[in-house]
Order: sequence, then structure tokens, then C-alpha cells
Amino acid sequence: MIYLDHAATCPLRKPVWDVMGRLVGDADFNPASVHSPGGRAASVLEEARQVIATALSTKRSDVLFTGGGTQSDNLAVLGFSRAAGPGPRILVSAVEHKAVLEAARRAAAEGAVVEILPVDATGWLDPRTLEERLGGKAEVPTLVSVMWANSEVGTVQSVRDLCEIAHGHGATFHTDAVQACGKVPVSLAEVPADLLTVTAHKLGGPVGIGALVRRGEIPLEPLAYGGSQEKSLWPGTQNPLGAAGFAEAIRLARDEMPESADRWRALRVELEGQLRAAIPDLRVHGEEAPVRLPHLLSVGVEGCDQAALLTALDLAGIAVSAGSACASGAATGSHVLEAMGIRPDGPYAVLRFSFGPSTTAADVETAAMQVARSVERLRGSDA
Ligand SMILES: Cc1ncc(COP(=O)(O)O)c(C=O)c1O
Repeated sequence: MIYLDHAATCPLRKPVWDVMGRLVGDADFNPASVHSPGGRAASVLEEARQVIATALSTKRSDVLFTGGGTQSDNLAVLGFSRAAGPGPRILVSAVEHKAVLEAARRAAAEGAVVEILPVDATGWLDPRTLEERLGGKAEVPTLVSVMWANSEVGTVQSVRDLCEIAHGHGATFHTDAVQACGKVPVSLAEVPADLLTVTAHKLGGPVGIGALVRRGEIPLEPLAYGGSQEKSLWPGTQNPLGAAGFAEAIRLARDEMPESADRWRALRVELEGQLRAAIPDLRVHGEEAPVRLPHLLSVGVEGCDQAALLTALDLAGIAVSAGSACASGAATGSHVLEAMGIRPDGPYAVLRFSFGPSTTAADVETAAMQVARSVERLRGSDA
């Protein structure tokens, strides 16, 4: 099987597995226990916290472990809204992950004023749009949440400008860096976001652990109660082995950049070229974006059924995704493509290819050939 769906999950990397394996029987205890096995687990947890903090250029005490990106996004958006008291303002881009959009929707049901910021045809949010929307100095607690890079089409946002604008208006800035981390430089020294989401499994770390970085003691209301772990903001027994795996994955990703990014970019250009040659009317989503993620390519094929194409590719040994789950009533099934103005009349197959450490030029060549074959067959069978 050729696996080109690393943006969904990057399988556990061998060095990560090795680090975690070495800790079995050594640190798989409760870090809150006062005995020495508990103390050992606590030091492994804190060492991992330090590695993650260093990778993101922030302080160890800013890193709060959670169960992953969804939970971190919810804690950032809903936790901010609930801590802010009545009627906070929350501005989110139209292309956010559902973990942000649905948390904002919940906040709106609880009294927050939520505004959706439109994007252009490449999925990019023009910082001037944020500037205009924010107007003067914030009169109520205000949160701006814009992802560092998009998970479906790979458009990288101008987070530095957006953060500066938010701060200039007295707003708090959250960014979901789940897809950007390890693929483009993500540094809180460069972009001083107040809240930042990361998760381990997109980096070849274990599923089920992530972090919310919270700087400057931004007030947050916990979403769960019953323990003092993670400053009471994410209570419950912590996961030292998971944290150690997460730390190794983020350290590796950081050390391997920029070589990994250059390699992926070359593969992406190659794949795009081969697909275009075989399918001249292919649409590349976010093609003109100022910056795109190096490891991700999203394309659309008109006149081709998406489910049939994904199944054909799976049978041919190519694992890719459409980039989003289908939502009934929407032409493409994707709120991101809808926000970019992509609303085809007929069948439209979206394919998202995403590379990882194991992806080779031969994988890309085989994938392009199989896509071309399957599209030709499916289009022929529809005629
Ligand atoms: C941009 C983005 N945010 C959040 C998430 C959710 O992360 P997790 O799977 O760790 O809950 C994902 C996962 O697809 C994502 O791509």
C-alpha cells in the first residue's frame, strides 16, 4: 500500500516507538503519585514538556497536555469564551477545522458574538479583512482564531500579520498549528500567539495526545473538572509515555526541517505535474496561495464520482483522502472548498495527497499513474 494520507495521521515513527518502548516498565506510572515510580513518570512528563516548549520557542510552563488537537481547539475557543463572562466576541476564519468552528458555534449558543471571516479563492484570509472587522479597540474580551495552515488544501495563513493585528486591537490570538507544525517553521518567538494548538499524531507521534500552548496566563475556563493536572485546565491522569513520544516526534520533525520540506515540495511539484499532464482539466486547490504546505496537494476532478475514485484507488493500493468527510447538501462536502467558492454543478472528486517521512518519488509516480487510470475509467463509464 502506498500511504499518502499523512495529514490524517502519520504512522508512528520508529525512533518515536523506540523512545516509548524504552520507557515501558520505567515511566508508565501515575505522575501524580508521591512514590519514586510516580516521580520518574513525572520527570519524563516534564522533560517532554520542555522538549515541546523548546521546539515551539516558548516556556515549559506554557505547554498544557491534552488528548489532541480537537480538545486543544475546544479548550482555546470555548474555554476563552466561558472565562470571559457575558458576550465575548469570537472571530474565526471560514476555513477553520470543525474543532474550532463547532466550539465557536457552541460559544455562540452560550451568548458569544461569533463572526466568520471570509477567505479568498485560495483559502487565504487577507489580514486587511481582520483589520476592518476588528475596527477600534476591543470593548469586550475578543478572541481571533485562525489556523496556521489549512488541513484540506494546505494554504498557509499570514499568521504573523494576523496576530499583530489582533494584538493591536486588544484581542487574544489563537492559532491551530496542527498541520503546520513540522512542515513549516512554527515558532512562538516569530509569531507571538497567545494560544496555539498542536497534536502528536500528525508528526509520527502517538494518537491521543496533543497540547494547547497558553502564554501570558490568558484566562480559560476548563471544559472538564476533577483534578489539578495541567493547571486544572485539562484534568485527569497524564500520559508520560505519550508525552515522551510526542516530544521525540516534534524534535525529529524540527531537526529534519528544512530538508524534509524541500524534499516534499519537490515531490508535490512532481505529482502536480504528472497529474496535470494526464488530466488537463485538473483543478489544483489553493494553487495561487502566497504560501502552501510543502507536503500536501489537493486537487479536484470534474465529472468523476468521489467515492468511486477513492475506492478505485484503495483497490489499486493507494491510500489518499478527500480531505474532509462528506456533508449532505454541500456540492463538494467541504466547508473549506465552499468558502473558496468552489461549487461545481455535477460530480466532483476531491483528492488530498499528503506526504510523510517514508514517501518516495516512486510512490508519487505510481499514485499519479493510478489516479490517471482510474479517472479515465470512471469518466468513461459515466459517458
Ligand atoms: C487543522 C486541524 N486541527 C485539529 C485537528 C484535530 O486533531 P486531533 O485529531 O488530534 O484531534 C486536525 C485533524 O485532522 C486538523 O487537521
